[in-house]
Amino acid sequence: ARDIIIDTDPGQDDAAAILLALGSPDEINVLGITAVAGNVPLPLTQKNTRIVCELAGKVDVPVFAGCEAPIARKLITAEHVHGTTGLDGPTLPDPTMPLQKQHGVDFIVETLRERPSGSVTLCPLGPLTNIATALQRAPDISERIQEIVLMGGAYFEVGNITPAAEFNIYVDPEAAEIVFKSGIKITVMPLDVTHKVLVTPDRVQALRDCKTKVCDAMAEMVDFFERFDTDKYGSAGAPLHDPCVTAYLIKPELFSGRYINVEIETQSELTLGMTVADWWGVSAREPNAMFMGDVDAQGFFDLLTERLARL
Ligand code: BDR
Ligand code: CA
Repeated sequence: ARDIIIDTDPGQDDAAAILLALGSPDEINVLGITAVAGNVPLPLTQKNTRIVCELAGKVDVPVFAGCEAPIARKLITAEHVHGTTGLDGPTLPDPTMPLQKQHGVDFIVETLRERPSGSVTLCPLGPLTNIATALQRAPDISERIQEIVLMGGAYFEVGNITPAAEFNIYVDPEAAEIVFKSGIKITVMPLDVTHKVLVTPDRVQALRDCKTKVCDAMAEMVDFFERFDTDKYGSAGAPLHDPCVTAYLIKPELFSGRYINVEIETQSELTLGMTVADWWGVSAREPNAMFMGDVDAQGFFDLLTERLARL
């Protein structure tokens, strides 16, 4: 199984990504989960991470709190999408498993230094603050990272928090720039992919049909999450972003994309946080990221439902 660290800001779709990983121990070994401020402030994202681990019955997964604010900006949150708790929908008990004392960034650095070089994959599902801070603090870890598989950015689908920017990149564009300029192997799940992964009524029903605690909770979460998107996009259901990252680790053949240059806009007020993705190869800039563009959406939902049912 592939060793990973999940970096996250739960978030109902973050919860789906975590549960998919925890339900797939043959393919994925979760070394630890670091929480970051994003959808809601850090006290809630670290708490929500533990709620999700407990829901899965995986109380031994170490959970760490990382950075509480972006590198150079004030935190922007998304309660309008995720509710005031960040995990609105199901009623889940407060966590009893502990929060680790170590800072999330220190855990990332220490794990990468202790484990064999090239054996640990980072899976960021929120703003890239923790990852960029780790890279700034310990530049030696950069060549030890196997790969970064992240949810963020967009090309054809452009923006969801501003007309030009996707939320995770917009919240901490300076952090995103550090990551995209790092030279580390990067695979990106942008809105171009996640907007194809739509939670239709049939797919919610498939979760309910499992009749397990985890699948029921996930059905409640996706019923709540971005419900407004059905009106917003006029689509059959709301997009489910973050589990594309963990699904990719299990079944990469579900996804296709292009290895291209991606730069982050950090200056312009109008297009701040935009991922300027050279999809057509019109610049002379070197490719730096595998930017996904398409997904087998039904294959993805079959995988998600099957693995969550195992928990
Ligand atoms: C991303 O923003 C958050 O609201 C979601 O959890 C996801 O990571 C989508 O733009
Ligand atoms: Ca997220």
